[in-house]
Amino acid sequence: MSTKTKYVRPFLKWAGGKYRILPKIHQRLPKGKRLVEPFVGSGVVFLNTHFDAYLLADINPDLIDLYKVIQKEGTAFIDHAASYFDGSHNTEELYYSLRAQFNTMPCSEDKGAIFLYLNRHGYNGLCRYNKSGEFNVPYGRYVKPYFPRKELLHFHQIAQRAEFICCGFEQSMDAAQEGDVYYCDPPYVPLNVTSSFATYYSDGFCYSNQELLAQKAEFLGKKGIPVLLSNHLNDYIVKTYHQADIYSFEVQRFISCKGEQRNSVKEVLALYGK
Ligand SMILES: C[S@@+](CC[C@H](N)C(=O)[O-])C[C@H]1O[C@@H](n2cnc3c(N)ncnc32)[C@H](O)[C@@H]1O
Repeated sequence: MSTKTKYVRPFLKWAGGKYRILPKIHQRLPKGKRLVEPFVGSGVVFLNTHFDAYLLADINPDLIDLYKVIQKEGTAFIDHAASYFDGSHNTEELYYSLRAQFNTMPCSEDKGAIFLYLNRHGYNGLCRYNKSGEFNVPYGRYVKPYFPRKELLHFHQIAQRAEFICCGFEQSMDAAQEGDVYYCDPPYVPLNVTSSFATYYSDGFCYSNQELLAQKAEFLGKKGIPVLLSNHLNDYIVKTYHQADIYSFEVQRFISCKGEQRNSVKEVLALYGK
């Protein structure tokens, strides 16, 4: 079935989103009581599954704080966030002023609303920080950024079954309980030297992280807790995931430093356990 008719879109724009490969993830994701996502990103897998409970983690505190606010405040937050999308805030000057404000604010409902504004008004929906941890994405120059009201409402509803935690994957991989199923979507290994996607957050994600993640996935799989992982298909990943059941397929991706060039790349879904 086409992804256009069947699936819910996340309310955030997010690099590495899995919307287009949801049918393949659905085919391979084992059943269980609770879904754990150590790299939740925009939450597109969470939003399109039906587990009794969810443990959703990410290392990005701005993202997890926003999710907690929406979970708790619902329409009160959504109405407040909508005020930043009334058109009057869509100027270069106001974008940079709100970005500067965001970088000095403590966690609050308003900070969450500005994070959403920056995601939809900033260049390409990027989420990028400088070495001091300041959000530094330039203004996106969109005519009328979309306010994702229905996507936010859907998120609020199913977030009632979720627990959100801000942590590195080591901690969420160690939080496994009987009946859990894991879906791990880490920053991918670079396809080659010039196409690194591995800079989602200022900490980066290096090869030793990829190897530790594979070790932890194998450990859980042996204990009867299935772990499904996404990544690029290359020799390094085949070697690193050699204990898993590997399924590979082609996807269309924009992967160019110079302009928006569409390329076909191979990805894997690697399953430990089951
Ligand atoms: C590929 S994205 C996830 C995309 C998500 N599946 C989706 O469809 O939107 C990777 C996520 O991993 C998070 N991340 C990066 N390093 C991490 C780490 N060491 N531990 C936990 N999360 C991390 C990033 O903040 C980012 O949200």
